[in-house]
Amino acid sequence: MLVLGVETSCDDTAAAVLLNGRTVLANLVSSQDAVHGPYGGVVPELASRQHVQHILPILDGALQKAGVGLKDLDGIAVTRGPGLVGSLLVGLSMVKGISFRWGMPYVGINHLEAHLLAIFLEQDIPFPYVALLASGGHTLLYLVRNIGEYLHLGGTRDDAAGEAYDKVAKMMNLGYPGGKVIDQLARNGNPKAVSFPRSRMKKGTYDFSFSGLKTAVLQYLKARGKEGWEGQRADIAASFQEAVVDMLVAPTLRAARELGVSRIVLSGGVAANSRLREKMLEKTQEEGMEVYFPSPGLCTDNGAMIALAGYHWLERGHRDDFRLNADADLTL
Ligand code: KG4
Ligand code: ZN
Repeated sequence: MLVLGVETSCDDTAAAVLLNGRTVLANLVSSQDAVHGPYGGVVPELASRQHVQHILPILDGALQKAGVGLKDLDGIAVTRGPGLVGSLLVGLSMVKGISFRWGMPYVGINHLEAHLLAIFLEQDIPFPYVALLASGGHTLLYLVRNIGEYLHLGGTRDDAAGEAYDKVAKMMNLGYPGGKVIDQLARNGNPKAVSFPRSRMKKGTYDFSFSGLKTAVLQYLKARGKEGWEGQRADIAASFQEAVVDMLVAPTLRAARELGVSRIVLSGGVAANSRLREKMLEKTQEEGMEVYFPSPGLCTDNGAMIALAGYHWLERGHRDDFRLNADADLTL
């Protein structure tokens, strides 16, 4: 079964071709980082326009790389939410057009579900597992009992983890997106140099909060002035990162422990973070648990994970009709 996956929910235009829910024949992403960089965050109107420009070359490129034509496909999967509605509509409308022209089935996919299943593109792991999805738009914790069976355990009360990275990077003039830059800068810094606060949530919840940390970094920078903190950039990056990682690791491990689940799966852009991976490995080993991470390119937004989720829905006979709409606030 040959499935095309299309993703345009935020600022990446992505398409992939997946064979039998397992073999990625092509996985192309056109990033808009350079367009949004000067603004320090995604500008929705610019994102939609960029998708319009890039969607056809990306689709053609993915099909060419996979060595297949549209007529060879068994179905198409496209993100229908959550995300920026203008961005979502570009991918969804394009796929509806192809589906109509070629009489081919298509399914609308929940972007969050695709992230939670991305690990299966590379590894077969047993259910259940606790999944931490940490990206620029989301910080969510789920119990994944099976494909299609997701229990929401918690989420951020304010900023997403990646958003905190991006905002702190902006405060320190490190460019956008900030996650990768801070990750690299932190390698030469001391994570104990500055003791930034770790928000603690009420017992019995598995929620996250990053706005207090973000404010603490801002106050620290303001109090010292640029000349005061510039020479300390690596230490500030490492200390900020350590706080984010601690606040991601603690509720995730507690959830796994309390639910009696021994497997943890990470996904989303922040799952590419080297310190998060290291600390998760260390802590899960201590507790006799296992942690799994997709390769960095499958942690961030991509078409392969959409094709994978689509493969499972199509295989179960699910089909969407042309009334399907994009849903910016779609939940799982
Ligand atoms: O999943 P993603 O590509 O897009 C969505 O937000 O849906 O994630 C992008 C986010 C950005 O906030 C970026 O700063 C963050 O992931 N990120 C990282 C790293 N690489 C990307 N954060 C921390 N460490 C990284 N290595
Ligand atoms: Zn995402």
